Amino acid sequence: MLEISDLHVAYGHAQVIHGLNLVLRPGEMVFIVGRNGAGKTTLLKTIAGLIQPAKGEIRFEGRAVAGEPPERLARAGFRFVAQDKKVFSKLSVRANIALAAHGSGTPIEEAWSKAVQLYPKLEEFRALPAGRLSGGQREILLIGRALVGAPRLLLIDEPTEGLAAIVIEDIFRILNGMRHTLSFIIVEQNLSVVTRLADRIYVMKEGQIIREIAERSEIADTAQLETYL
Ligand SMILES: Nc1ncnc2c1ncn2[C@@H]1O[C@H](COP(=O)(O)OP(=O)(O)OP(=O)(O)O)[C@@H](O)[C@H]1O
Ligand SMILES: [Mg+2]
Repeated sequence: MLEISDLHVAYGHAQVIHGLNLVLRPGEMVFIVGRNGAGKTTLLKTIAGLIQPAKGEIRFEGRAVAGEPPERLARAGFRFVAQDKKVFSKLSVRANIALAAHGSGTPIEEAWSKAVQLYPKLEEFRALPAGRLSGGQREILLIGRALVGAPRLLLIDEPTEGLAAIVIEDIFRILNGMRHTLSFIIVEQNLSVVTRLADRIYVMKEGQIIREIAERSEIADTAQLETYL
């Protein structure tokens, strides 16, 4: 459903992604692992249309989409959940979802019930300012917000970063529950999450994909994966 070829991305004169190739098949959950500064966030932002690539092709269902504005990609079903877990902290949890619903022309009730289905506790927190949620709950709210409308491709940047083990399991269950309902590219450093969820893994280093891991036994080999982090 997504094909990236010979992608180059730079910040001014500093080139960060150097001729990257990647394929995502329909319904797949693919993980990107790699060290700090490898260019993982830059890659997701470029796919989401937040950064213009210097060169290369991104095809979504056969259509060339590289360089399209983020709003247009959002209408096509692209959703990006950023690494910073930023919510509208003064607005209520429900208003955070309502805002996304409004933006995409989705009935608020429909958007809200989807979010609550994902994580029933949101119902308890509905009137709470979103800034009062824990990091994990904020991440879940952001995933719920990404599901508003008709998502096709979820790009999630380090969903479990900085979270307590117990909440990491909540995130794991939520992602596991969404498997095969849409397609995912997830950047993640927590190898326990990666090995349990990944259909495939791409290892990124210095702006390139240096390995693709598709064999079940290799996906489960955390000791080997550890060496890439
Ligand atoms: N806005 C920016 N302007 C200039 N350089 C940037 C910018 N954002 C990132 N970089 C640089 O690009 C490189 C890749 O950054 P990126 O954030 O994509 O890496 P990452 O793999 O997501 O790292 P992390 O694991 O720390 O999140 C780094 O060297 C970083 O310093
Ligand atoms: Mg990053």
